[in-house]
Amino acid sequence: MAKQVSQRVKTLLSQMTLEEKVAQMIQVPYAQTGREESLRWAKLGAGSFLHVLGDNAREVQQTALNSRLGIPVLFGIDAVRGHALNDHATIFPTQLACACTWDREIAREMGRVTAREVATDGLHWTFSPLLCLSRDPRWGRVNETFGEDPYLTGEMAAALIHGYQGDDLSAPESIAACAKHYIAYGEATGARDAYDSEVTYRKVREVFLPPFKKAVDAGCATFMTAYGSIDGTPLTVDSYMLKKILREEMGFDGFVITDWMNVTSLVDKQFVAHDADEAAKLAAEAGNDMIMSSTEFYESAIRLVKEGKLSESVIDEAVCHILTVKERMGLFEQPEKVGVPGCIGCEAHQASALEAARRSITLLKNDGVLPLKKEQKVLLVGKNADDIWAQYGDWTYFSHPLWNPDHPAVRPYTTVKEGMERLGQVTYMPGCGPVADESDDLCAALSAAKDADVIVHVVGDVMTQVGEGRDRADLDLSGSQLSLHKALKNTGKPVITVLVSSKPLCLKDAANANAVVVAFNGGQHGGQALAEVLYGHFSPTGRLPISFPHHAGQVPVYYNQLPGWHGASYCDLPAAPLYAFGEGLSYTSFVYSGLTMNADTLTAAVTVENTGSLSGLETVQVYVRDVVSSVLTPIKRLIGYQQVQLAPSEKKEITFRFEKNDFALINRREKTVLEKGEFILMAGHSSKDEDLLKLSFTL
Ligand code: NOJ
Repeated sequence: MAKQVSQRVKTLLSQMTLEEKVAQMIQVPYAQTGREESLRWAKLGAGSFLHVLGDNAREVQQTALNSRLGIPVLFGIDAVRGHALNDHATIFPTQLACACTWDREIAREMGRVTAREVATDGLHWTFSPLLCLSRDPRWGRVNETFGEDPYLTGEMAAALIHGYQGDDLSAPESIAACAKHYIAYGEATGARDAYDSEVTYRKVREVFLPPFKKAVDAGCATFMTAYGSIDGTPLTVDSYMLKKILREEMGFDGFVITDWMNVTSLVDKQFVAHDADEAAKLAAEAGNDMIMSSTEFYESAIRLVKEGKLSESVIDEAVCHILTVKERMGLFEQPEKVGVPGCIGCEAHQASALEAARRSITLLKNDGVLPLKKEQKVLLVGKNADDIWAQYGDWTYFSHPLWNPDHPAVRPYTTVKEGMERLGQVTYMPGCGPVADESDDLCAALSAAKDADVIVHVVGDVMTQVGEGRDRADLDLSGSQLSLHKALKNTGKPVITVLVSSKPLCLKDAANANAVVVAFNGGQHGGQALAEVLYGHFSPTGRLPISFPHHAGQVPVYYNQLPGWHGASYCDLPAAPLYAFGEGLSYTSFVYSGLTMNADTLTAAVTVENTGSLSGLETVQVYVRDVVSSVLTPIKRLIGYQQVQLAPSEKKEITFRFEKNDFALINRREKTVLEKGEFILMAGHSSKDEDLLKLSFTL
């Protein structure tokens, strides 16, 4: 049972028939089910609907309220980067772009704005944040993650959850968050979406669990089980993960929802159940409270209980979790969220999305060509410079069934082309895009280069290369992008490579440019943000939350690798990535000195000085290495970071306070232990050895 069950929930439970209780566990997909059938489900007492907006949602809610017990429906939506499935709402950068800011406050603000807009639409719940780690960039959903690192992911996630839920879930502009996909879903073998993750539970605890623990501690109201499996056990039936670890150990007291059709897939995709009844029993007993889309669960669970094959107490417990969250959300008093009328897509919200985009732009190389000067003649090349769909990326109204084709782009937006045209002298030539087609015109782009002082080449990927089930085996720049880049470079003009993409791509020769800038998918005003950085109106602050491989065959290149013997690198490729976790330049420079560590108080300090001529924001990163341990431990592991704004010549000492567990490991028995001995503390500008000061200390 939920930890604290109110009298209202107890009374309601006692009044509910078995059928009403099981219906409460069902989440109905409105678009796929259709209006008539959805209203039938609402009359039966279905607990939740997903992906339904406006009057349709109101009609469903009214029907539920008029049913026998009148339990309000909970509406869920994938508002994962703003309320972006609503074609009037604000679109933020993707989670990956947001992670480039490393700024907890940016994540919190993104959550607040999203919550306000979702609530104003009368909805209650977003399926966000996504806490999977992207340790293999071939995966199609890298854009939805906060990158490769457990610590950074957990920090950004906790902030986003606070943004969504506020201090009080029942407040008019708070919505429930959902930590997904529990767990190790990003680690599927070969980066093939929803396949088995060949990891052990020790590894799960060490690498994948920490962000989810932070989500529980942040009060996240719901969790979503992953599509995949760990070492052959689908997460949908994994009671060890759902009951023992999530509820008993981590103390989660919200409710758990399956992912889309997870119960059905036990029968027809993962083959661990013979039929719908067996799948329903496995899923219910493992600890799933709400079942997304697998509506056959309804008949099965009722039959199983009536035949004595499933204990009704399992159903009671699930319903209790669901009703308790509904109560915490204040739905019994106010079934429809009211939000802040008029706020959807308002200017203040757009300004927040623009600020997040600015802060996300990451400068990885600059020989002095940047910032551009207003009087320079710039040739802008590449279809992604003028393709709002590519700029948005996944999970906006463009890429989803809720898309209304009559409203292709009703909200204001700025592409890279528009942003740059506002700030300088720009000639645009599409050249080519990520997918070759007959409109590609490399010759026109090359001949325009003759008149240019500098070339900005925007490369990347498009929506057909991104998302669920769209994993890539090859991470090279697709279509003719690389050939065009080489030809542009051969003109002898300075070339700036800009990446508008869902994830790290292998830039190969495109990294051999005078400057390299990563924008990922910057959302509504991503183009303006990028232009401001290119023209020096904003000094870049982004830091990579994920490493860039030279080549897909070099994967994995995440920074927190385990030590080993011979296999540190391939004989034909270096061990180091092209760009490492934490990297990112600005238009000023910083110098670190005076790293200290007090092992008694677990306090470290380091001094940072702005040695350039412009003010700038530095992200001070601290890593640790356990020198000798009973199991292999990473060569370095992020355990803290802070951001500091420094004027030219300004210097500040930054202090960090740690806890014992920051230095602990997960031993062979899956226990968290601090093994005494020597540790190396590292502090500096990025995860690269040459960027870090180091000292040894003993615990
Ligand atoms: C499947 C996705 O895996 C999940 O992230 C999403 O929230 C649900 N579908 C609902 O759309």
